[in-house]
Amino acid sequence: MLELDRVRAGYGAINVLWDVSMRAQAGQLTAIIGPNGAGKTTLLRAVMGLLPVTGGEIRLDGGRLDGTPTWHMADHGLAMITEDRLIFRDMSVEENLVMGAFHPSHRAHVKPRLERSYRMFPRLRERRAQLAGSLSGGEAQMLAMARALMSEPRLLIVDEPSLGLAPVIVNEVFETLERLKAEGRTIILVEQNTERAIGIADHVYLMQSGRIVLSQRAAEVDLDHVSDLYFAR
Ligand SMILES: Nc1ncnc2c1ncn2[C@@H]1O[C@H](COP(=O)(O)OP(=O)(O)OP(=O)(O)O)[C@@H](O)[C@H]1O
Ligand SMILES: [Mg+2]
Repeated sequence: MLELDRVRAGYGAINVLWDVSMRAQAGQLTAIIGPNGAGKTTLLRAVMGLLPVTGGEIRLDGGRLDGTPTWHMADHGLAMITEDRLIFRDMSVEENLVMGAFHPSHRAHVKPRLERSYRMFPRLRERRAQLAGSLSGGEAQMLAMARALMSEPRLLIVDEPSLGLAPVIVNEVFETLERLKAEGRTIILVEQNTERAIGIADHVYLMQSGRIVLSQRAAEVDLDHVSDLYFAR
């Protein structure tokens, strides 16, 4: 579905991604792991058109995606949940969810999708009128996921959803991702929680200093080998 072919991108004169090639297959969960500063978020930004691609190509279902402005990514069925979760703090939980389906083509689906969000995340139903800024970290992550799903994306991209959350909430986040995968959704998951990410993934890419240093089916991954690469021993 999504394919990166020798992609280079960075920040002005500083290049971060060095010929990154990878693919995310439809209906699969593709995990990208790697230490701090490896370039994982940079890769997601390049996919979403938030950074110019200075080399190589990004393709979606065979068509060229790089060069597409970020505001058109939703039309292509891409939704990204950023590291900082970016919810509208001064709006209610429900208003945040409705914002996830702002595009005119989604408006007719708002009600059934809201209902689906609340079935999936009962705590959001309880807090539907509460200001999003007063949610706990775990609830905010749930809201960010539910909001992204309001646009019924074909590809869901999630950047470190477990960051800064208590272990029991991390469990909930991973259970949610597993449920979404079981529904047949296509997901790209960036995580530092390596073992958990590999546990729910179909395919794993390990990034190190802006390069892919391992690409393997999740079932074949040797955790010791990954940890050697991770810490570049
Ligand atoms: N806005 C920016 N301007 C310049 N350099 C940046 C910018 N954002 C990130 N970088 C640099 O790009 C490199 C990769 O950063 P990136 O955020 O992609 O890493 P990451 O793998 O997502 O790390 P983390 O796990 O900490 O989120 C780092 O060296 C970082 O300092
Ligand atoms: Mg990051």
